[in-house]
Amino acid sequence: MIGGILDFYFFSGPTDAEVIAQYGSVIGYPMWQPAWGFGFHLCRWGYHNLSDDKENVAQMRAAGVPLEVQWNDIDLYHAYRDFTTDPVSFPGDELRAFIQELAANHQHYIPIVDAGIAVTVNSTDVYDPFTRGVEEDVWIKNPDGSLYLGQVWPGYTVFADWFSENILSVWTEGLKNWTDMGVEFSGIWLDMNEPSSFCSYSCGSGANYSALAPLSMAGTVITAYPECYNYTIWGPSGNITINGTSTYSCAADSTAETGIESRSVGVGGAQSVDPGSPPYAIHNGFGVLSAHSVATNATHYGGYTELDVHNMFGLLEEKTTNLAIQSILPGKRPFLISRSTFPSAGKWTGHWLGDNYSKWQYMYLSIQGVLQFQIYQIPMVGADTCGFIGNTDEELCNRWMQLSAFTPFYRNHNHYGAIPQEPYRWTSVANASRIAIAARYALLPYWYTLFANASMAGVPPVRALFYEFPDEPELFTVDRQWLIGSDILVTPVLTPGATTVDGIFPGRGSVIWRDWYTHAVVNATTGGSTTLDAPISHINVHVRDNSALLLHQEPGYTIYETREGPYALLVSLNAAGTAFGTAYVDDGISFPPGPSRSLTFQAAEGVLKIESDGGYEMQQKLETITVLGVQKPTQVTLETGTVEEWTYEETIEELVVSNACVDLNGQVTLTWK
Ligand code: NOJ
Repeated sequence: MIGGILDFYFFSGPTDAEVIAQYGSVIGYPMWQPAWGFGFHLCRWGYHNLSDDKENVAQMRAAGVPLEVQWNDIDLYHAYRDFTTDPVSFPGDELRAFIQELAANHQHYIPIVDAGIAVTVNSTDVYDPFTRGVEEDVWIKNPDGSLYLGQVWPGYTVFADWFSENILSVWTEGLKNWTDMGVEFSGIWLDMNEPSSFCSYSCGSGANYSALAPLSMAGTVITAYPECYNYTIWGPSGNITINGTSTYSCAADSTAETGIESRSVGVGGAQSVDPGSPPYAIHNGFGVLSAHSVATNATHYGGYTELDVHNMFGLLEEKTTNLAIQSILPGKRPFLISRSTFPSAGKWTGHWLGDNYSKWQYMYLSIQGVLQFQIYQIPMVGADTCGFIGNTDEELCNRWMQLSAFTPFYRNHNHYGAIPQEPYRWTSVANASRIAIAARYALLPYWYTLFANASMAGVPPVRALFYEFPDEPELFTVDRQWLIGSDILVTPVLTPGATTVDGIFPGRGSVIWRDWYTHAVVNATTGGSTTLDAPISHINVHVRDNSALLLHQEPGYTIYETREGPYALLVSLNAAGTAFGTAYVDDGISFPPGPSRSLTFQAAEGVLKIESDGGYEMQQKLETITVLGVQKPTQVTLETGTVEEWTYEETIEELVVSNACVDLNGQVTLTWK
């Protein structure tokens, strides 16, 4: 935005989460996510053919690392053209069979859609998505009415004019034909949609279309060693440990690249402005305002000038694609991940944080990225796990696979030519991933509830610590930890070679924090930092007191299998012996959402009450109830007509009721005394 008339809204909160929710009530709450979207996604630029995809799926399965969604980047395309598949490397029928096999195993497939649409290069060239768009007049124009040309991977391209009347039908047709060709996608990845273009201004009208060949990545190999590895000392292996010694020779890079130096305000709709050369530049060292994007004088249906509507491109593409998916996959929740966003984008899409580097500094920065997009009401967000640009290494990938397991969108993605970084490539990373994914899938009902609250009321699922503890100023700058909802605190390792991590435990001593894995109470420093053990493959996760979390008892290989299994309930009492929690449950896929069930868990004075309301019938039973903070009981009663089995572990004050077989469609009471 460089100018115009500004309307200001003030949101009174009073809490930070309420400010975010109130903003959401103005711009629109986030879309409903399908349950499978919370699974682990695997991607890279450089899965060259279907065999690469198949190998991936098989290796993930063999390593026992859950794979929910296999993705393909632009390698999928024929000549880098949207809505095509390469006939040699991704033949349609074989791709269809592959995707159908994934579906039979309750796994999913997501392909990329780039913003630039290739133009046909001569009169014999056949490319329907472009020619249909010409017939229906849906492409952005130059001021003289000719087609506006940009350049992206396929060579010369046009860009959709999302304001045009026919774009929804042309876009839907492109996506539908693609599925008919074999690309039976479950969701869509929208890339390059700022939109990105490699020409300055316009590539010109009347350009020689055939003169510009698609860009080729063939032969691109990234040879840089991982961050902090000195090959003159350690030789060419790139291993992070040699003969038991760490090869790191520097601390993690601490210089953040901010990109923006200064910013001026512009003139909005002033008549005298030449949109091809607007008077206010962004002095960020990257040239004119339209550098690497569509020229500011390009024109849209309805008379809009690119200068005025540039930032809407991604948003309107997301809306159009979401609506197209709704008609292609009727009754199902669309799943989209997009690079460009704008206020309201969360109604239509999720977001990944774009091209990062395979560096420790970028793993750390991803935390603030995830937190920012909660404020923007685009909560389904995550980073390119293990890093995109440059070569990652085993330790960084180990820590990052664990960190991202506790962020909403969880995808490992890699640059063309970089060393492979799928979690099965290293034994330790596979192990770390299995541990973190098991925790993530156990927590799925909790994530799902948080996202339902986001879609119904704009409440942010991921929170900065101070949102929950606004009276503790020492939390205001904490950006190395975060809360999932109000009850799960995540403290990842962000530096190489570490075996401990420092974290702060909010509440200044009034809150009991318990370890997620052992249920032991943390001996936390009041208002200051506490050092925690953090050996490789261990990420610190803690549960707040006064909470009750509905969990899946047996994390499965897929989200479907996980949801088919029984539930568990983790109740963490506070010093006064109380706990409270809620859960929202539905079928995880219907759009618009169908019947649902709301559960309330409330504990006080040795009684846990479960209340249940709604039209959705839960098939799976609640098998295990764990209550932490209980004095040794002599009698435990569950009012379900079943005989209760229970155990008590004194050191952690843990009562476990197993084989409870509780029907969650009704009221239940558990008492201990
Ligand atoms: C840019 C995207 O940000 C990146 O994730 C993708 O791999 C490349 N485009 C190639 O499609």
